[in-house]
Amino acid sequence: MMDAEITDKYPGISGDLSEILISPEQLRNRVSALGAQISQDYEGLNPLMVGVLKGVVFFMADLLKSINIPLEVDFMAVASYSPEARDQGLVRLVKDLELSITGRHVLFVEDVIDTGLTLNYLLSNLRTREPASLEVCACFNKTKHRLIDIPLKYKGFDLPDKFVVGYGLDYRERYRNLPFVALLKPEVFQSG
Ligand code: IMP
Ligand code: MG
Repeated sequence: MMDAEITDKYPGISGDLSEILISPEQLRNRVSALGAQISQDYEGLNPLMVGVLKGVVFFMADLLKSINIPLEVDFMAVASYSPEARDQGLVRLVKDLELSITGRHVLFVEDVIDTGLTLNYLLSNLRTREPASLEVCACFNKTKHRLIDIPLKYKGFDLPDKFVVGYGLDYRERYRNLPFVALLKPEVFQSG
């Protein structure tokens, strides 16, 4: 359902949207619950929160602000070699972490896990650096196309098998800034 109170704040964007799946309030509530849980679990461990640019920064900023223990933050960035390579989870590290993770308690933060291929590749890479622990926190989880079992310690929401935008998720780099999750009208995919 479209909630005018929410979409009216985005007059230049709301015309592209067909349905709001997760409201700003639902996101706020779930993210702060995750933050509270992580604060408890990692108390005294000075965890290192690792994100992959750039979809995750929206979720990660909210999540980390709801955590009340000392922590550190780092980012990596990846690029696909080609669509075929991406299908096998092969990605090129275009920006590595700045901090060493050896002996650290690492929490890998992700926006959405779909096939799990990219994440699996990155986790294997990080494991070779021998962190004290390595867990995953994903804002959104899609299971329909999962090819590799990813142990998800923290999960925000399960998503249906649909392409969604908002809260960091993009379609051709747009819509990341929406503070809710929505479906696009079919004509948006057809135009250009
Ligand atoms: P995978 O888990 O290796 O298949 O990669 C998941 C990636 O696909 C995410 O990081 C997103 O960039 C992208 N993705 C998957 N589902 C969606 C969606 O519904 N909207 C936008 N991007 C998506
Ligand atoms: Mg991503």
